[in-house]
Amino acid sequence: MSEQPENRRTVTMEKIVALSKRRGFVFPGSDIYGGLANTWDFGPLGVELRNNIKQLWWQTLVQRRRDMVGLDAGILMHPHVWEASEHVVNFNDPLVDCKTCKARFRADTLLEDKLGMEDAATRTPEEMSAIIKDANLACPNCGNRTLTDARQFNMMFSTTIGPVSETSTKVYLRPETAQGMFVQYKNILATSRQKVPFGVGQIGKAFRNEITPGNFVFRVLEFEQMEIEYFVTPEDAPAQFESWLASMQEWVDLIGLKPEHVRVREHAAEELSHYSDRTVDYEYLFPGSMGWKELYGLANRTDFDLRQHQEHSGVDLSYFDQAANARYLPYVIEPTFGVDRTFLTVLLDAYDEEETTDVNGKPETRVVLRISPRLAPFKAAVLPLAKKPELTAVARDLFDQLQDATGVLIDYDETSNIGKRYRRQDEIGTPFCFTVDFDSLADGAVTVRDRDSMSQERIAISEASVYLAGRIQ
Ligand code: GAP
Repeated sequence: MSEQPENRRTVTMEKIVALSKRRGFVFPGSDIYGGLANTWDFGPLGVELRNNIKQLWWQTLVQRRRDMVGLDAGILMHPHVWEASEHVVNFNDPLVDCKTCKARFRADTLLEDKLGMEDAATRTPEEMSAIIKDANLACPNCGNRTLTDARQFNMMFSTTIGPVSETSTKVYLRPETAQGMFVQYKNILATSRQKVPFGVGQIGKAFRNEITPGNFVFRVLEFEQMEIEYFVTPEDAPAQFESWLASMQEWVDLIGLKPEHVRVREHAAEELSHYSDRTVDYEYLFPGSMGWKELYGLANRTDFDLRQHQEHSGVDLSYFDQAANARYLPYVIEPTFGVDRTFLTVLLDAYDEEETTDVNGKPETRVVLRISPRLAPFKAAVLPLAKKPELTAVARDLFDQLQDATGVLIDYDETSNIGKRYRRQDEIGTPFCFTVDFDSLADGAVTVRDRDSMSQERIAISEASVYLAGRIQ
């Protein structure tokens, strides 16, 4: 594992949490009841940013590719699905309790400092327990040396279908969207005219009873995934893996993450999930002590899932290749993307502070989200210089013109002084502000202010929608 580079960025997780709450991106879940730990609700701007992320992903990786189709499967699936996928037996994290303060930890995380991340991830619970005992490790929470042995803890949330407990069926909330695509693979093949190689994309909620959630929305109990299962011949799997690795890099570039904050990490053999032959993570350099952590994953799942489902369901899931006159179980390459981690890294990467002066020449710090215009919640804001009927009438017409012509979300703000309104738009990442002033009444023009450079130019109101449309793609 490479060294942790010194992290001198202006942004901190605390600043993003505060900005998210202040501006309506993310609120603590069940806030008026004091919150429910590690649950978050996405506010008016958060829902726009998430939708823009999901829409861009869907357009880029599903709709614009002729070899891809989509699916929206249920969160609840037949319990046999999770036996076949081996999540019932294998989807475990090693857990350690502190007998004194009752805090819980992932045993591998506890041993990361001592063994390094890769080594810690490969140890059995017995080995971890022995190392914790030998080193007489202290509880990171209370400092007492009263840690229990490590034991496996299944991360799937379960519930029951049916009102009477004796006859109810135990079901799980899906811990990944992937299984829906394996289970519906035969129906998709029969109805979509796709041939191997082809893929299925899906965006949806997943649930994990994480032992150590935290770091804002980085690790939560309820989250959203954007996943692809790409079906290939076994021989073609290594080349398709490389091709998807490149496509994932294109996505990272598209959403504007800085190259120096993203790296690729190959999993060691012992670290691989139970279904994977090869896994590579895209990692992001989070600020502060968090450092490099998984953003996305790419796995070669071989024919593990289709084989398991074929055996457990008794349904033949083999593929017949007419041209080659051959029958086989396809291999699967799986690029997987977390919506919440995309959301978080987009905010972290876009955050900037600039020393500048306010409209009266007083020094101030400008907080600006240099977010890609494609993802920005509002693409533009229309601001009448003063709340005067002659100005607001023109501004409202311009707002309608921009919204109708471009179909994107535009903000309208006539409250407070213009300096404060610019700062608000900077902080929520709005790329352009159109200001209607008294001259506009005479010359039919407005001032457009660019978020990043703060430069201003004068354009005809009649040209405004063409101006905007050309700058937000
Ligand atoms: N189908 C494969 C799979 O689920 P994973 O690496 O466990 O693989 C995929 O999860 C992605 O889902 C991760 O790269 C991450 O972006 C996101 N993710 C996983 N667990 C998460 C959690 N507890 N909170 C937020 N995002 C999570």
